[in-house]
Amino acid sequence: MDDVKPKWWQVFAAGVTVTLLGLCAIAVGTVGLGAADQLASVGSFALTGVGTLVTVASLVQAVRQQRQRPVVVEPAEPPRPAPPSGVAPLAADLARLRDVTNVDHERLFGVDETIDRLGESLRNPGGASIISIFGGAGVGKTALAYELIRRHAEEAGFLRVASVSAKFSHIDRVGHLERDAERENVDWHALLVELAQQLAPGSDFNDTLIEQQLPQAMPAEPCLIVVDNLETREAEVAVRYLAGSGILDPHKVVITTREAVAGTGVGRLRELTWDGPDHAAASAYARYLVADDSLLDPRKSDLDDVVRAAERTPLLIQIIINQARVERLPIRDVIGRLRDVSGNLGRAVWTYCYVNSLNVLEQKLRDPGLPEASAREQAADTVANLMAVFCFRPAGSSIASEDFFELSQIGDREAFLRARAMACRLALVKSLRNNERFTVHSLLREFYCAQRGPCGSAS
Ligand SMILES: Nc1ncnc2c1ncn2[C@@H]1O[C@H](COP(=O)(O)OP(=O)(O)OP(=O)(O)O)[C@@H](O)[C@H]1O
Ligand SMILES: [Mg+2]
Repeated sequence: MDDVKPKWWQVFAAGVTVTLLGLCAIAVGTVGLGAADQLASVGSFALTGVGTLVTVASLVQAVRQQRQRPVVVEPAEPPRPAPPSGVAPLAADLARLRDVTNVDHERLFGVDETIDRLGESLRNPGGASIISIFGGAGVGKTALAYELIRRHAEEAGFLRVASVSAKFSHIDRVGHLERDAERENVDWHALLVELAQQLAPGSDFNDTLIEQQLPQAMPAEPCLIVVDNLETREAEVAVRYLAGSGILDPHKVVITTREAVAGTGVGRLRELTWDGPDHAAASAYARYLVADDSLLDPRKSDLDDVVRAAERTPLLIQIIINQARVERLPIRDVIGRLRDVSGNLGRAVWTYCYVNSLNVLEQKLRDPGLPEASAREQAADTVANLMAVFCFRPAGSSIASEDFFELSQIGDREAFLRARAMACRLALVKSLRNNERFTVHSLLREFYCAQRGPCGSAS
């Protein structure tokens, strides 16, 4: 129920009014206007007295109320309603990034130092504008990029993150391969349209004009653009566009790719070559995964086998351990399945990790001066010569540069160097020790050589 008692200030106003009326009446009597008799004068004084009493009483009431009332701090301004989604734009963008990149980790091993170093570039407005994370299949490029942005984007002053993935195939935690045939045909311009729509929702963009439209779609506040798995598109074309379109500063770009883009020579590009966590971190990751299954109980030597077979690649570590858990097979049997390119698991991993890069290598080595069929045949021979060298070396071993050239039987040294550099740029061949020795992942060697006949181990 409402309080019906008059408020102190209402009583105060009434008192003042009555007092003023009384004073007016006294004044009229004093100056002798009108027919003021004695009775009227007494009434005037009484009116003034009552008014004064009421005024004083209201002030006493006000003081009492003030003493009893708890101190209430009025908000400076009424609270603003929360945004409809209830999520700040950067938080919503990070949630989308996680979705777009299909990130599934709870914890990463052996990446903190690298993430901190890349974070410095992100925080430095005069530092690299394009950060590229380059490396072979499944080494953890996407996981690294996601963590870099999650940990450092806000502190670096980025208020928005737009993200796309150029990936069209996916291998799950147990090694099942899925291809997205629709996405396979999405061209680079369609990815730019996706980015523009995230940055300027509601505007109209189209594939043919997007290269001119994207710079206009960039908001004033600093944004990060993330292109995950760029290698499946024209990586170099894409990087040249991003560097030259005028969309950088204060904005930056983070890409992940199986194809190195440093060779484009564009300015303010920083490329990290990532080969997965080191041996100790990869072993810790394997132990972390098996700890969820007390029945698996592998020996230490089994876990060493996992890390050795995977050559520290987190994707492969994960697939081996999850297959062992799901299929209830000993780890050594799963490793056998992984290496068998004619079986389901081996074929899926071969297709997901290497087939596309080998095809791209062949395409890039074609001589534009030759008719297409001869150019293709010659390039395919060069790829075969280069890769076959490792079939005659023990798995996991490296080869000296000069031996590599001789064993490849590619007569022309320049052609050999070009092919080798391209294979390194596609993360198929890895260079070691000041680029004086070369190797390939033992799984790639196994897969490749199995299709060419039994692997030898003597040179
Ligand atoms: N350092 C790490 N510690 C633990 N798990 C990791 C680490 N790096 C990656 N992973 C896990 O390994 C899997 C593969 O990682 P990710 O997808 O990032 O590799 P990628 O290099 O981007 O692969 P792709 O070449 O296929 O794009 C993911 O499930 C990820 O969570
Ligand atoms: Mg990736």
